[in-house]
Parts: sequence; structure tokens; C-alpha cells
Amino acid sequence: MNILAIESSCDDTGVAVVKDGREVLSSVIASQVPEHIIYGGVVPEIASRRHCEAISGVTRVALEEAGLTLDDIDALACTYAPGLIGALLVGVNFAKGLSYATGKPLVPVHHLRGHVASNYICHPDLEPPFLALVVSGGHTHLIHVKDYTDYEVIGRTRDDAAGEAMDKAARAMGLPYPGGLNLDKAAQGGDEKAYPFPSPRVDAAAFDFSFSGMKTSVVNLIHNKEQKGEPIDVQNIGASYIHCVVRLLCHNTEMAIKQFRPERLVVAGGVSANSFLRRDMAKLCKQYRVKLYFPELKYCGDNAAMIGSQAYYEYRKGHLADLKLNAAAVLDIDK
Ligand code: KG4
Ligand code: ZN
Repeated sequence: MNILAIESSCDDTGVAVVKDGREVLSSVIASQVPEHIIYGGVVPEIASRRHCEAISGVTRVALEEAGLTLDDIDALACTYAPGLIGALLVGVNFAKGLSYATGKPLVPVHHLRGHVASNYICHPDLEPPFLALVVSGGHTHLIHVKDYTDYEVIGRTRDDAAGEAMDKAARAMGLPYPGGLNLDKAAQGGDEKAYPFPSPRVDAAAFDFSFSGMKTSVVNLIHNKEQKGEPIDVQNIGASYIHCVVRLLCHNTEMAIKQFRPERLVVAGGVSANSFLRRDMAKLCKQYRVKLYFPELKYCGDNAAMIGSQAYYEYRKGHLADLKLNAAAVLDIDK
């Protein structure tokens, strides 16, 4: 079954063709990084406009690269939530238009379910159940994935997401957007113990996260140094800060491993590209003899192939939409 999938929840216009949920026939992304870089972050209004301009061309290229035409497509899929509402609406309406014009079924996909599914593309042997840590720019979730469309969120952030905490720290250090990636690069080889940052726990919720305290702490440290005219030691501050974020992610994951004793741990979302997280999760999983799965780097960030993968499983469950489908900025993964 060939699914043409569309992703437009943030600043990447992605279109992919995925066969039977696992085989990527094409995956094309029009990146908007150069557009947003001068603002230091994503400007939602600009993102929506660029999606409008790019989406037809990206779809044409995705079909060409797959060596297919619309006639060979069995279903259409789109990310419909969560994300920037104006950006989501472009993909949703384009997909609805294609569905109306071709008479092919339309599969709505939750963005975070897509991130989890990026691992199905990269690991043919991977099947639920498993424990998943989803770490993106807007979300930080520990999830018990019981089946392809059955999720139980067991922990979530109470304030900022891990990606947001990375981005804000990077910006305070003067690193360009996209912050998380540039912070990871700048911190390579730095001393992870050079600066002690707080590691908060959320009372009575062992699996919940809080990143706002450590974010404020690094921003204050940098501002204090700037006021005193001291140089900003980006490499060591960056390494210590990433270490602190990753320590909390690993700590809560360890608590969840102890309680749920999963055979497999899946990590997904943009922050799953982080080199410190990859290293420390590997250590943790080795210690507990849990099989660890990360997506390939090209599928960590937003892409439409992961949406096409998840769409296959949603389709098989009969989760289809009609032309009344709307986008939603906020939606729980288990809804
Ligand atoms: O999943 P994603 O591409 O978009 C959302 O759904 O939010 O995640 C983007 C987030 C951003 O906060 C970005 O800074 C972060 O992932 N990110 C990283 C790295 N690459 C991307 N954070 C830390 N280290 C990286 N190497
Ligand atoms: Zn994402």
C-alpha cells in the first residue's frame, strides 16, 4: 500500500511516499531555516506562507523521486495536530484537496505518533509494545506504546520541552537557530562537570519533567558573565547544560524502566539527534539489558516519511478522516 504523506506542523514542508508503513520510496523536505535564522527562531506567519509556496512543488518532487504518479497512491495522509495552527492548516487543506480530487482516503496523523514511527522506518524488526521517550521542540513525553495506535503517557514535562530548553540556552549563548543542533556541536569535547546546574524533580510524579529551572539558571549565568564583561565559555557551559538536560531525561527513563521492565526503549523527536543523549541512553540500556532504538539522524527531525509510516497503521485501524478534518494546535497523543 502506497501512502503519500504531508508534514507541515512547524518550519519544514515535508512530503513522502511510504510503502506498507516501512519502506520509504521518497522523502522530500523544503527547509525554511535560512528564512527564520535572522529572527533566531520560527516566525509562525512566515512558516505558513512558505508552506503554501512550497507544498505543490515538494509533492511533485516526492512523486517523481518515488517513480510514481497520483494514480499509484492508495491513500493520503497529513499531520493534523499538534503544532503551529497556521502551518498545520496548509498541509491539512492540501491533503483534503488531493483527497477530494482523487477520491482517495485521507488519514489524519498525530505528529508525535509520527515521531515514534520514524523508528519503524529505520528498524524493520521493531514492533510494539515498548517504552518511548519522545523529545521534540514542543514536547517531552515518556510513553508506554502498547500497540501501533494505543498509547499511555506515563510522564510529561510540566513546563518547557527538552528541545525548547536547548534552543533557549543556545540563543542566550549567541548560537544561531536551529539552537539545539548548534549547541550540540559547540559543546563537543567540553567539560560536562564545569558548571553545576539544578536538576529538579517533580514531587509525587516520578516520570514528569521540569526544564524551566535549569533554563533560567543557564540564562542567568550567561547574563551575569556578560554584565561583568567576562567571556562566555560556550563549550564548557554548553556541555554542562546538555549534561544536565540529558541527566534528567535518563533519570526518569531509568525510573520507568525499573517500574515497567520493558524489553525495548525507543527514543524519538528532534532532540533524539543529540550526541550526549545517544551516548548516555546507550549506557543506561546496556545496564538494564533493554534493546535501544534511535531513528537515523535524517529521520530525527520533522519529516513526512514518519507520517506516512504511522498513517499505514492508522489506516489499518480504520482511522480515516473526511473533508471536515480540522487542524489542532494542541492534542494529546492518546486521543
Ligand atoms: O521534532 P522536531 O524536529 O520538531 C518538533 O516537533 O518540535 O524537534 C525540534 C527540536 C528543536 O528544539 C531542536 O533544537 C532540537 O529538536 N534538536 C536538537 C538537536 N537537533 C535538533 N537538540 C539537541 N541536540 C541536537 N543535536
Ligand atoms: Zn516534530
